[in-house]
Amino acid sequence: MIVRFAKESELDRVNELRKQVNDIHVEGKPDVFKPGFGQELRDFVKVIWNDPEQEIVVAEDDGVICGFAVLHHINKPENPFMKERDFIDIDEFCVDKDHRRKGAASEMVSFIKKFAREKGFKRIELNMWEFNQNALAFYEAAGFKTFRRYMEMMI
Ligand SMILES: CC(C)(COP(=O)(O)OP(=O)(O)OC[C@H]1O[C@@H](n2cnc3c(N)ncnc32)[C@H](O)[C@@H]1OP(=O)(O)O)[C@@H](O)C(=O)NCCC(=O)NCCS
Repeated sequence: MIVRFAKESELDRVNELRKQVNDIHVEGKPDVFKPGFGQELRDFVKVIWNDPEQEIVVAEDDGVICGFAVLHHINKPENPFMKERDFIDIDEFCVDKDHRRKGAASEMVSFIKKFAREKGFKRIELNMWEFNQNALAFYEAAGFKTFRRYMEMMI
């Protein structure tokens, strides 16, 4: 398994994995997520690619891109309530359904931690949808801790 930054020629494959995440979100939270993975969502990978504040990481197993993550540098300036926050946010994260439970996601997290540390960051954040208990189990196994919650009431 090799974890590295993506090449532009791999963005179509990254989109196949982005579609898997979208399908999971549509199934788990249909009141929020739009079904399908249309041109607008496919093209969004180019926005990520061209943004100097974002990076796409991939896991390659035997020449096959089996996982990806989108890293986003976020800087939130100080405000009356909060100190300045400067961190790496994991915006999107997926391992191909046929390659799970082989450690690809864990290796991507190790790579992301090393990259973030080398850049001088002290924090990595991510957010996830509560229905996605598989993702939660992985993130907790990888060492992430819940520090904030979104709540809702259907009325
Ligand atoms: C969550 C996900 C990234 C995990 O990827 P993975 O490569 O299978 O994870 P790893 O093999 O590195 O798992 C490491 C450990 O995490 C835990 N873990 C991973 N997947 C799990 C699951 N489905 N259920 C329970 N624990 C899980 C286990 O402790 C596992 O160790 P083990 O296999 O020795 O038991 C993958 O299931 C996925 O892409 N899911 C769909 C997309 C998604 O939900 N993305 C995140 C939301 S944006």
